Amino acid sequence: MSDDSRSGAGSAVAGSAPSRSVHVRAPGKINIFLAAGAVQDDGYHPLATIFQAVSLYEDVYATPSDTITVSVRGVQPEQVPLDERNLAVKAAQLLARETGCTQGVHLQIIKRVPVAGGMGGGSADAAAALVACDELWGTGLGIAGLHPLAAQLGSDVPFALVGGTAMGTGRGDRLTPVLARGTYEWVLVHGEEGLSAPHIYARFDEAMAEQRVTADEPDSPLEVPRDVLQALASGDVAALAEHMYNDLESPAIAEQPALAQTIADGCDEGALAGIVSGSGPTVALLCRDRADADRVARTLSDAGRQVMRAHGPVAGAQVIEA
Ligand code: C5P
Repeated sequence: MSDDSRSGAGSAVAGSAPSRSVHVRAPGKINIFLAAGAVQDDGYHPLATIFQAVSLYEDVYATPSDTITVSVRGVQPEQVPLDERNLAVKAAQLLARETGCTQGVHLQIIKRVPVAGGMGGGSADAAAALVACDELWGTGLGIAGLHPLAAQLGSDVPFALVGGTAMGTGRGDRLTPVLARGTYEWVLVHGEEGLSAPHIYARFDEAMAEQRVTADEPDSPLEVPRDVLQALASGDVAALAEHMYNDLESPAIAEQPALAQTIADGCDEGALAGIVSGSGPTVALLCRDRADADRVARTLSDAGRQVMRAHGPVAGAQVIEA
């Protein structure tokens, strides 16, 4: 994986050094539990999911500029668009439009969350850009005021704003905080190549259509099982490991069969359980404690896997320096 840097066309700030910079940090996420329903007319799937924000962060530095531009450094920068498809650029444009603000911004992103990895890296960039521009421009919406804008930008963006551990319903954008005692230690294993969320959801639809043909029973209601909420409330890592689940895991494994082996290898090395995060392909291995997680990470890394260590829950997008 490369550690490089790229700049969007016209990203140079003309004239002298910028007068002010705002630094915001936003976390990546793991879906500890995710149940999806049948696709709706708008193309989205209703979800019942548990998000946890983890200590793998995107840093965004916002500086005054005449226009809205972006540059990217860190992991896989070559895979991040620098034009108006960039979610951080979209976030700044949306905030400017909604508030009537005519100022510009240059956003420098330092990426640590894998691109197209199922960990909400782009969503974290968007959340960080909203918070950074709100601070830099003095638009004063705050986290609550930014929430509807975040939901317009993407289903996972509101969670990157609030962080912690939360239940997501609707598209995943309607959030309820969830009590989670203690700290959860994760080993994150990179997939070989990124996976596209729409593609994985389409595979999920195909599997559901086949099931419908063979099953007589109606679809069960979408909910997060009580066992998952109880395990989190009591900080029982072993119980949580037993109840982690993701409806998008089978379609992700159908696309990248090696993911099943990654989960099996992680468990063989001592992880309590492993799951594909979101639409994948990052695999999240839950470990009993920090020492176990460090050991599992080392062993998998020695075996040639690209791994990262993280713990959760952590806070959502926040200003580090202004
Ligand atoms: O909301 P966001 O733009 O991040 O979603 C990316 C894609 O993932 C959507 O275009 C859709 O195909 C799929 N998706 C979905 N149901 C959800 C969330 C995302 O089908 N609840």
